[in-house]
Amino acid sequence: MSTNNIVKQEYTINRQDREKINKHHSFLVWFTGLSGSGKSTIANLLEKRLHQLNIHTYSLDGDNLRRGLNKNLAFSKEDRNENLRRTAEVAKLFIDAGVVVIAAFISPYIKTREEIKEIVGADNYVEVYVNTALEICEQRDVKGLYKKARRGEIKNFTGISSAYEAPINPTVEIKTPLDSPQAAVDKIMAVIKGKL
Ligand code: ADX
Repeated sequence: MSTNNIVKQEYTINRQDREKINKHHSFLVWFTGLSGSGKSTIANLLEKRLHQLNIHTYSLDGDNLRRGLNKNLAFSKEDRNENLRRTAEVAKLFIDAGVVVIAAFISPYIKTREEIKEIVGADNYVEVYVNTALEICEQRDVKGLYKKARRGEIKNFTGISSAYEAPINPTVEIKTPLDSPQAAVDKIMAVIKGKL
């Protein structure tokens, strides 16, 4: 694919203009962690907290985007990377729209997460690692997928038959079940307050 013969079009109204109307800045809060680690639960609570503060938000969730925009993608390394590249590009648009974006994706590879950060810009990227031990995720097995993965009914399942590379230096680390979901939101809010 190439961008030959494509000329960037300039529009007058920009991100700063939109942020001014919104009365806050925009950026991306990216949640990474195993399936069942609690990403979506914490992301949902964070969005509620921000909404109460009149912040314009939008949530992107792996399970949801894979039902629409990314429904042609599976769980090979290539497909995960394309799933996350598209999501990062969508997040970039929302940031330009002046919105605080919350994204919850397993996003298992360090390199891919670096690419996401590059797409949206390092200043716009807050990484939240939801660190929940595999044994706990598997015990919870909210969606019954770990059981299926153990039986070999799902291939390339993160943590079982596909790698998860933990962040080395995330912006925020949440340790569950030690941190309650509310405590997790408090931790994240403390870090993003200054960015709003
Ligand atoms: S990612 O690896 O590409 O970032 P994403 O967050 O979009 O993954 O989707 C993960 C969700 O898809 C899981 O929470 C789970 O519900 C479902 N899923 C189905 N198959 C797999 C699989 N092989 N590995 C991980 N998650 C899977």
